[in-house]
Amino acid sequence: MTAPKKLFIKTYGCQMNVYDSERMAEALGGQGYVETKTPDDADMILLNTCHIREKAAEKVYSELGRFRGLKAENPDLKIGVAGCVAQAEGEEIMRRQPLVDLVVGPQSYHRLPELEAKARSGEKALDTDFPEEDKFERLKARPKAARGPTAFLTVQEGCDKFCAFCVVPYTRGAEVSRPVSRILDEARDLVERGVREITLLGQNVNAYHGAGPDGRDWTLAQLIWALDGIDGLKRIRFTTSHPNDMDDALIEAHGSCAKLMPYLHLPVQSGSDRILKRMNRKHTAESYLRLIERIRAARPDILISGDFIVGFPEETEEDFQATMDLVRAVRYGTAYSFKYSTRPGTPAAERAQVDPEAATDRLHRLQALLTEQQRAVQDEMVGRELDVLIEKPGRKPGQMVGKSGYLHAVHIEDCTAARGEIVRARIVESGANSLAGRMI
Ligand code: 5AD
Ligand code: SF4
Repeated sequence: MTAPKKLFIKTYGCQMNVYDSERMAEALGGQGYVETKTPDDADMILLNTCHIREKAAEKVYSELGRFRGLKAENPDLKIGVAGCVAQAEGEEIMRRQPLVDLVVGPQSYHRLPELEAKARSGEKALDTDFPEEDKFERLKARPKAARGPTAFLTVQEGCDKFCAFCVVPYTRGAEVSRPVSRILDEARDLVERGVREITLLGQNVNAYHGAGPDGRDWTLAQLIWALDGIDGLKRIRFTTSHPNDMDDALIEAHGSCAKLMPYLHLPVQSGSDRILKRMNRKHTAESYLRLIERIRAARPDILISGDFIVGFPEETEEDFQATMDLVRAVRYGTAYSFKYSTRPGTPAAERAQVDPEAATDRLHRLQALLTEQQRAVQDEMVGRELDVLIEKPGRKPGQMVGKSGYLHAVHIEDCTAARGEIVRARIVESGANSLAGRMI
């Protein structure tokens, strides 16, 4: 038997890319590849890239340059670029960096086996199509390895919202939802392999409308209730959502579905109606706040997470203060904030840009407020009894680490529970980035 070839994948960007990297590793598993943790001994290096903010492409080129030595030592080493930079740049990548043998977009990576064979034969392999066939179906018949307690499951891809700053509708394409039966099959398979918590993924996951077994399109709430029926699956999460797609049934599920965790990532981007309009968000600050109220009425303890952009074209200090006011009104448990970054081809790229120093200053002020809120929400967990899904051993002997329903990491000393079990713990301390708990 020949020794297996080694595959090194580096993943940038969002959770959907994490899921895609797993699928790519499985696709190449059929070609005799096993994953390795370092590029140094790899036969194939794949960079699964992100294009959401500026400099992403530049980062990829500088990373690629670093592989020059490895390629000189091992001429059989194949280097590939996958993901959204691959989609956006295509052939240009090979022109700019001749070390690259293979370029594959996020909608065509099920064709990796063919592309790998082409690259092995010494040709350049490129595929950035948006094919008709279901890439997930093509990837199904793979060897089944045991899995850890948590997994991502992509149920929806692409976006039709066209926020004025965002490249997603161009790199990932139009919204597509996977059929319900395929998702349920994949979820059952994950549970059989040891998974206890599934996070449903989509760029616009709550716009999910996949074909149901009854011939009608199902909503995300319907899908969640179907997953709720899978024995052995203990926890369900979903991300990322758009405020305009939070329907009543989904809000209600947060109150009544015990497996649906009390955590919601609901980006608002800005608190200024003037900027929201220019962003093409199609909601106002007020409608977002009312929505948060309704969600909290269904599930009072839910932890709210968000995304923010500061320094969007034409944003004034007054607009920024409206964002600060909205943050104060919501009280976020966690949040991600970014300085606006020009994306070529998007509508906002053509507009008057904000002075970069002003934008940096706003980002610092916003992040200070968000960090303060995040801290307060985490500190309030002390004294509470929470369920913790054990994920892995901690650094100290006898210690295990898991996550609460609110997605806080919890360290438990003298923990008798194994990976994949859910334990009841009393939270005794709130540390820098995690909680400490004791088993009850
Ligand atoms: N500049 C800065 N942030 C952006 N995001 C998306 N596009 C841009 C951009 N051009 C942020 C949004 C989105 C998150 C995934 O990334 O906040 O919700
Ligand atoms: Fe981008 Fe807006 Fe779609 Fe989110 S909803 S992926 S920010 S266009």
